[in-house]
Amino acid sequence: MEFKEKLKIYQNQINKELEKYIRKNECPEKILNNSMEYSLMAGGKRLRPILVIVTYELFKKDIEKCLPYAIAIEMVHNFSLIHDDLPGIDNDDFRHGKPTNHKQFNEATAILAGDGLLNNAYMVISEDLKNTKENLDTKLKVFNEFSYSVDRMIAGEYVDTEYEGKEIMEEYLDYIHINKTGALLKLCVRMGAMLANCAENDLNKLTNYAEKIGLAFQIKDDILSEEGNEEILGKPVGNDKELGKCTYVSKYGLNGAKEKLDIITKEAINELKEYGEKAEFLKQLALYIQNRNK
Ligand code: IPE
Ligand code: IPE
Ligand code: MG
Ligand code: MG
Repeated sequence: MEFKEKLKIYQNQINKELEKYIRKNECPEKILNNSMEYSLMAGGKRLRPILVIVTYELFKKDIEKCLPYAIAIEMVHNFSLIHDDLPGIDNDDFRHGKPTNHKQFNEATAILAGDGLLNNAYMVISEDLKNTKENLDTKLKVFNEFSYSVDRMIAGEYVDTEYEGKEIMEEYLDYIHINKTGALLKLCVRMGAMLANCAENDLNKLTNYAEKIGLAFQIKDDILSEEGNEEILGKPVGNDKELGKCTYVSKYGLNGAKEKLDIITKEAINELKEYGEKAEFLKQLALYIQNRNK
């Protein structure tokens, strides 16, 4: 099957699973629930949950065991996007080709929708833990790592805002990328691997792969913010420059950023070589991250 077809199947599977967590009941906070649904179901690529599942599938077939963790990470991701777009952070009006959450609803609702999604993620995991009879030790380890990775994402977002409009050292630029974007992507791969109880050396190799695609993902995001197509991207182009964001493009130029992206993508793929055909989708995902236009 073609990579794009397979990607679509995974995306549909995630969307169907996410639907189960949408609250549609009549209640005083109905609009808050609508705003959480609005962002969660707005058409994201679902790369994070897909990474959890695909890594799990390297070792095991019963993917329903990793689904709560895949869903939880997508909730956290959408929380991060809602807050990232707020006037106090990036002040963006469009995402996924639609008004951002605070534009569609209002700032108070968007702040609370983000809070709600973050907490829903922990509800999904705690529910799974409550119902777990086997593999509980592993799941507790995964849960612990989940909470630490969210902490890193928030730290990265903070440093990103702190350095807006300032000259930045290479070290700090990497710190922003590794944390604000890399931490969650790395977590996804590690969760898939750990939940499948893989061997230590597999976990190490996959962690290296994940760290590299995590960095590649944000370098590409920086490139797209410079030369992407707003219509395809569904979010503003040129906004990094406008805000004086420290990015790979501002530091190394467009060509420098592309060179780094190319090197790091090749390195990521190299980490998979001993898995052969089994890791074909993960390899294609690395190339997709490099070549995506949205
Ligand atoms: C965008 O992430 C934000 C970053 C961490 C760079 P994605 O591009 O994965 O977001 P969606 O969910 O697919 O829109
Ligand atoms: C978003 O980073 C990262 C997080 C939300 C953690 P950016 O601000 O660079 O991403 P976009 O371009 O708005 O999606
Ligand atoms: Mg930002
Ligand atoms: Mg942003």
